[in-house]
Amino acid sequence: MNVKEAIESRRAYRSLDPVEIREELILDLANTVKIAPSCGNKQPWRYIFVYEKERLRVLFTALSEGNKWVEKASMIIAVFSTLKNDCIIGKRLYYLFDTGLATAFLILRATELGLVAHPIAGFKEGLAKEILKIPDDMRLITLVIVGKHSKEVNPVLSDSMKLGEKQRPPRKKLEDFLFLNSYENRFSIE
Ligand SMILES: Cc1cc2nc3c(=O)[nH]c(=O)nc-3n(C[C@H](O)[C@H](O)[C@H](O)COP(=O)(O)O)c2cc1C
Repeated sequence: MNVKEAIESRRAYRSLDPVEIREELILDLANTVKIAPSCGNKQPWRYIFVYEKERLRVLFTALSEGNKWVEKASMIIAVFSTLKNDCIIGKRLYYLFDTGLATAFLILRATELGLVAHPIAGFKEGLAKEILKIPDDMRLITLVIVGKHSKEVNPVLSDSMKLGEKQRPPRKKLEDFLFLNSYENRFSIE
């Protein structure tokens, strides 16, 4: 799979089958993150790979109501950082950007390995941090939900989520976010 194929086949699927979590997989994903770019090479990201069944069960208690589907996860990757870990240039704080970049690499590599790696924001940050012993001054940015895509649609999904299993949710048009040479010159298809 080349990069374009990984980008195009990545989906935030919510119907998951179990997958065996081996040390080899953890090291592969961690080594992918390791070489991601960051401002001043500060590498602000921190990750906890949670795969012990009992620890996962406890972590599920921090999920938002709409994220019941996550309970089929084989692994949850907690992604966290703090603004102190990265460049601050005037009003520009780079820790979220750099951690997001590295996490995108991880997600694409997981996709290439045939896995679902679905980031979520729907969780109680305070509770999840407490469960994972993440220091108070750090932001738990996302949980990446890992499993194998199941052909059986998970019955806990809402109708719109069920639809999302079949087709990618719609995207903005290029005209809505793309500019050429200046913000005054919005891209348009003649
Ligand atoms: C930062 C972030 C937070 C998200 N939070 C959730 C979430 O809490 N629950 C969920 O089911 N999906 C969540 N998603 C997945 C998005 O809904 C999904 O990426 C989007 O609908 C586009 O679908 P696609 O990724 O399959 O193209 C999140 C994605 C991102 C990047």
